[in-house]
Amino acid sequence: MLVRIGVLTGGGDCPGLNAVIRGVVRKGQRHYGDELLGFTDGWKGVVEDNFESLNVDKMQHTLPLGGTVLGTSRFNPFKAEGGVEAVLNTFDRNNLDALISIGGEGTLSCTLEMYKRGLNVVGVPKTIDNDIGATERTFGFDTAVAIATDAIDRLRTTAESHNRVMVVEVMGRHVGHIDTWAGIAGGATKILIPEEPFDIEEVCASLRRRHEGGRYASVVVVAEGANPTEGTMDMPPEVFDEFGHVRLGGIAYRVASEIEARTGYETRVTVLGHVQRGGTPTAYDRVLSTRFGVAAIDAVHDQNWGSMVALQRDKIVCVPLEEAVADLKYVADDLWETAKQFFA
Ligand code: F6P
Repeated sequence: MLVRIGVLTGGGDCPGLNAVIRGVVRKGQRHYGDELLGFTDGWKGVVEDNFESLNVDKMQHTLPLGGTVLGTSRFNPFKAEGGVEAVLNTFDRNNLDALISIGGEGTLSCTLEMYKRGLNVVGVPKTIDNDIGATERTFGFDTAVAIATDAIDRLRTTAESHNRVMVVEVMGRHVGHIDTWAGIAGGATKILIPEEPFDIEEVCASLRRRHEGGRYASVVVVAEGANPTEGTMDMPPEVFDEFGHVRLGGIAYRVASEIEARTGYETRVTVLGHVQRGGTPTAYDRVLSTRFGVAAIDAVHDQNWGSMVALQRDKIVCVPLEEAVADLKYVADDLWETAKQFFA
């Protein structure tokens, strides 16, 4: 039985996307004898009926490759006029039996809505932020943490040479997983996460305690989505991208200038930004992505529609998409308590 399956990657890119596609294609073509269609630029490609055929040969050498060979976008068919009808037409026109949708919160919510409209879909959780519910890990996170930790290590030696405070900004829109992990791994003086508004005076008090105790360098790690307690610090107005998402990035500059003004300590800023999303995935992410890809094609053949592959207790399982997108996964209390033991 020849099964025709579409694949898309949506939202921000992430190390490991190609490894997922490779896993889908490998088991789909070799084991099941499927025909695979890769839609370009996420849901946009489905709406515009743009795809390329995927096969094992095409996916050669892509395991260590960052980004996505299919391209990606934050395009949402529910926000485009006639978008949903266009998706349904593409399914019919190409006799598609199923679609594997690899994405974060936005892409997977869209995938769930398409399932409710009758499409046979399976989701794969992707984001360096690691904030998708129902899975203990998303691929890309391990790579981002490794990059951020390496940056903190490097910043510490220059901070110590100059007796400076370094403020490092990492990604993390709604949650502080990257922040907390890289902060613990890099021995940060203070970690500021989106889940817990920070008091800048309290941050400065920590730095003073540390510096007055004989240490002259500190690293403060701040997530791009972190916020001060209301009324304690002026914040610049929000800027939106073309898809209506708040464009984050730059909170570190505000934090650093407050630290310098309030403590007098010389302070420098590093915003890691998209460096955390680019380049080759770690070995862990390559393995997790491969497991997710293989499990996704199995879920298609099990007709497990409306599900998402997930990691739970080191096993790959299928969970309802509805459950996966219901709530974001926040930093666990016990991990946060551990991180706090090392704050000055
Ligand atoms: O959703 C993942 C993410 O990397 C966030 O951490 C970040 O806020 C956002 O994407 C950046 O998006 P863009 O690439 O559109 O600037």
